Amino acid sequence: MTILVTGGAGYIGSHTCVELLEAGYDVIVADNYYNSVPEVLDRVEKITGKKLKRYECDIRDREGLERIFSENKVDAVIHFAGLKAVGESARLPLLYYENNISGSVTLFEVMEKAGCKKIVFSSSATVYGNNPIPYREDMVTGDVSSPYGRTKHFIEKILGDVYNSDNSWSISLLRYFNPIGAHESGLIGEDPNGIPNNLMPYISRVAIGKLEKLTVFGGDYDTKDGTCIRDYIHVVDLAKAHLCAVAKILGTTGIEAYNIGNGKGYSVLDIIHAFEKASGSKLNYVIGGRREGDLPAFYADASKANKELGWTAQYDIDKMCEDTWNFQKKNPDGIK
Ligand code: NAD
Ligand code: WQD
Repeated sequence: MTILVTGGAGYIGSHTCVELLEAGYDVIVADNYYNSVPEVLDRVEKITGKKLKRYECDIRDREGLERIFSENKVDAVIHFAGLKAVGESARLPLLYYENNISGSVTLFEVMEKAGCKKIVFSSSATVYGNNPIPYREDMVTGDVSSPYGRTKHFIEKILGDVYNSDNSWSISLLRYFNPIGAHESGLIGEDPNGIPNNLMPYISRVAIGKLEKLTVFGGDYDTKDGTCIRDYIHVVDLAKAHLCAVAKILGTTGIEAYNIGNGKGYSVLDIIHAFEKASGSKLNYVIGGRREGDLPAFYADASKANKELGWTAQYDIDKMCEDTWNFQKKNPDGIK
């Protein structure tokens, strides 16, 4: 079976490629390397001892995508390619709509033309907006606070319309919670350009001495210690969820959304303390003001993925922090 992985050189995509190759799939990666480097794919091959096929291709490039489908028999697509910085999306909404939505529509059109109607899409817990916690898949979605989040909501809806128009599609919408951690080898992990927006890469850059201190965004929320609560999920657990989703869509038709989270909430201070334990040293941090748009607390009800995909998260926050720190120590300047 051959799986096309768009955005396969990125953080979650690269970990998923490892799991796919180890499970015996043939893997094709299409990535424009906007937020990644080809070296990541060399490392995926090093970890697995297997080769993957790669195309430097933008998903907005219809001819480039058509070439991939004409040169290969693709059985299913895992679609990671997209821009993901929430703050940037508010400054550059058209870039996000163009890249994420236009790119996705082009991909779906090319798939349809090629007769490949099986897809796993990277959605996000952000589509739940202000719903009560824990989030469940049957809740109404779309009350989102950023253009980025809206791209995820719209793409879910577009795929819903595609399925309604043609029931031979098989579509899995995976709503990720907060992925952190790295592959145990320390060869691949999260390696954002510039100053990180997300908590874990920020913490690890403070710990390695590249950034001076972490500012905790808000210490006065109505939570157990005043800091925000999130559902952190090890990226390898997340990658494995894709294997379960691919196995399911290969044998069925339909459209389903699944929460991919641990089902447990941890505060920012919990994460800082777990990271300090993993790294063996104190982290320099201060409690600052709230970040606009942050919700006080959210976590998943992940029982549907367990029941229907046979997937459940294995790793706890200690392991997430240990693997993040291992990756950071082995790659103090990132992956070039
Ligand atoms: P990432 O930036 O590390 O990976 C995305 C990859 O897509 C990169 O390699 C980038 O170069 C590529 N890409 C972007 N635009 C492209 C285009 N037009 N054509 C081809 N390639 C393109 O991000 P990630 O953390 O691995 O996220 C993967 C997916 O999961 C994204 O769609 C993201 O929105 C979604 N997601 C991420 C998180 C998270 O916290 N990391 C949470 C929920 C959902
Ligand atoms: C986690 C917690 C911050 C940085 C975002 C997207 C979401 C999804 C995952 C893609 C929050 C706090 C952070 C810092 C801090 N991505 N924090 N200091 O905001 O939960 O989710 O990434 O789909 O859509 O919105 O993740 O890692 O930015 O923040 O205190 O320097 O850490 O306030 O409570 P978030 P995050």
